[in-house]
Amino acid sequence: MLIAGNWKMFKGPSETRAFADAFEPPDGVDAVLCPPYPSLAAAVEGGLATYAQSVHWAPEGAFTGEVSAPMLLELGVQGAIVGHSERRQFFGETDETVARRSIAALEAGLGVIACVGESQEEREAGDTEVILRLQVESIRDAVGAHERLVIAYEPVWAIGTGKTATPDRAQAAHAFIKTLLDVPVLYGGSVKPENADELLSQADVDGALVGGASLEVESFTAICQSAARIRS
Ligand code: PGA
Repeated sequence: MLIAGNWKMFKGPSETRAFADAFEPPDGVDAVLCPPYPSLAAAVEGGLATYAQSVHWAPEGAFTGEVSAPMLLELGVQGAIVGHSERRQFFGETDETVARRSIAALEAGLGVIACVGESQEEREAGDTEVILRLQVESIRDAVGAHERLVIAYEPVWAIGTGKTATPDRAQAAHAFIKTLLDVPVLYGGSVKPENADELLSQADVDGALVGGASLEVESFTAICQSAARIRS
């Protein structure tokens, strides 16, 4: 089971080093941390399995503010999140750019956590499956069921809000995603130590993408321990 911590724009290098010193992933779980770019080197040096929070599709070029897959690999970074809803909402990320980032990262040898999920309005309008289909098929058409690809299902209304999809709803969305693309599917959106057992026990929930609760060693460790318990 994969438990990934998305630190978003939190933790510079010194906080990253402190986390790495204190964190011991339990056996039987792949625990990955996704720090902001300036902290990637500290995370790798601290022995954390490290993913970036995005990656550009070109190996180099005139793309101010972006980083490439070869640069991440040179640092010892093992993969990248792509298409997080905050990038879709605030930075113009589209299904097309998510697909381009995924292709480049996988071809270069990185792992990819590609994020999908419906907004509150889309869910209320009954469009959840339409939106998931568009997002997942765009990734599938670009890269197929690649062995280093996982999808993260993150309903936008559950991110950072304290609201989680009920385990039933998460399970239904994960099962639907797997009918479109047969790769592991992580759940994301307000995953906490208190709800991890219930979410991770669902048959098609293959791990978690954790935001807020990944910032503290204790809560991230507790979620990793849930995963280890459930899959042992
Ligand atoms: P959250 O964030 O756990 O703080 O809701 C999840 C994410 O954005 O990946």
